[in-house]
Amino acid sequence: MPEVLLIKADFDRKSDWVEAFTGFDLEVRYWDSPGAAEDITYALVWQPEAGALAAFPNLKLIFSIGAGIDHLIGDNILPSGIPVIRMVERVLTAGMTEYVVYNVLRFHRFMPQYKIDQRNKVWREQIQVPAWQRHIGILGLGVLGTAAATALVGLGFQVAGWSRTEKHVDRVQSYYGDAQLAAFLAHTEILICLLPLTRRTENILNADLFARLPKGAIVINAGRGGHCNEADLLAALTDGQIAGAALDVCAHEPPDADSPLWQHPHIDLTPHIASMTLPSSSAEHIIDNIVRLRRKQVLTHVVDFTRGY
Ligand SMILES: NC(=O)c1ccc[n+]([C@@H]2O[C@H](COP(=O)([O-])OP(=O)(O)OC[C@H]3O[C@@H](n4cnc5c(N)ncnc54)[C@H](OP(=O)(O)O)[C@@H]3O)[C@@H](O)[C@H]2O)c1
Repeated sequence: MPEVLLIKADFDRKSDWVEAFTGFDLEVRYWDSPGAAEDITYALVWQPEAGALAAFPNLKLIFSIGAGIDHLIGDNILPSGIPVIRMVERVLTAGMTEYVVYNVLRFHRFMPQYKIDQRNKVWREQIQVPAWQRHIGILGLGVLGTAAATALVGLGFQVAGWSRTEKHVDRVQSYYGDAQLAAFLAHTEILICLLPLTRRTENILNADLFARLPKGAIVINAGRGGHCNEADLLAALTDGQIAGAALDVCAHEPPDADSPLWQHPHIDLTPHIASMTLPSSSAEHIIDNIVRLRRKQVLTHVVDFTRGY
């Protein structure tokens, strides 16, 4: 009898997931019809309810459908002693690179301002600076941040990244640790957040951080809503410290109907779509780890819960 992978996804793509594992000796079941609890050996999940995973006594590995694992943090969500593997796959990475490059180019080329001018029948040129004079800063130089940084370097931008530990990425200036955050921010005209949400990074996009950016900077948040203090962002947009923002993630998704985020002229809101897990390419990553487990080899992208990501 094959081992069983149980899937809890936020989109109903059952047939895509089943097809993704075709040819590999694994049975795929969906959350709504798991069958006998003892059969389940692997779980691929997004936002499982507290206690739900503990129902499967033979679970060997838990996979997060997302790159972030903040949805797995909380009382009784994870049974103890079972490794958790986060999602790292080429389509997810490519999608984030597209989102970042698209938004950087929009702001770099003043497209939000031209859109407003068009509505007001204003024909006005902005003075364009070349990419090599534009300073982009990426908070989080991990899998997604590094890919985005490399693409931006390829377009000629000045790119810096901030991470916990020092990085060596071609033509990307590395800043690391809390002590270097201020120096990183001082040069950043377009700031992109690609951090994981942890106790240390929660609320990092706040009034103090905005004040350390050059006046008129842009903020792009594709990390998590919990990274951004939205009241501070709104205040910084009002006083011009921040000139514009692209938010793919919010504190409440979707924001309340009366949230100012919906109508704000200098905020571009998208519904957490910067990057999405694709079943076919995710299956490669999952199968690779299952094969490693079966062969007693080292697993990849195992979450370190002491670090929080
Ligand atoms: N909006 C979307 O659609 C979407 C899609 C996918 C992912 N995401 C978000 O993107 C995040 C990043 O994904 P990833 O795969 O790139 O993660 P990753 O490879 O784990 O990279 C995380 C980066 O953040 C840095 N970091 C973590 N804590 C830090 C701290 N306290 N101070 C400074 N740097 C810190 C890490 O530094 P070190 O390398 O030095 O440890 C690393 O460079 C996910 O956690 C998720 O929240 C959003």
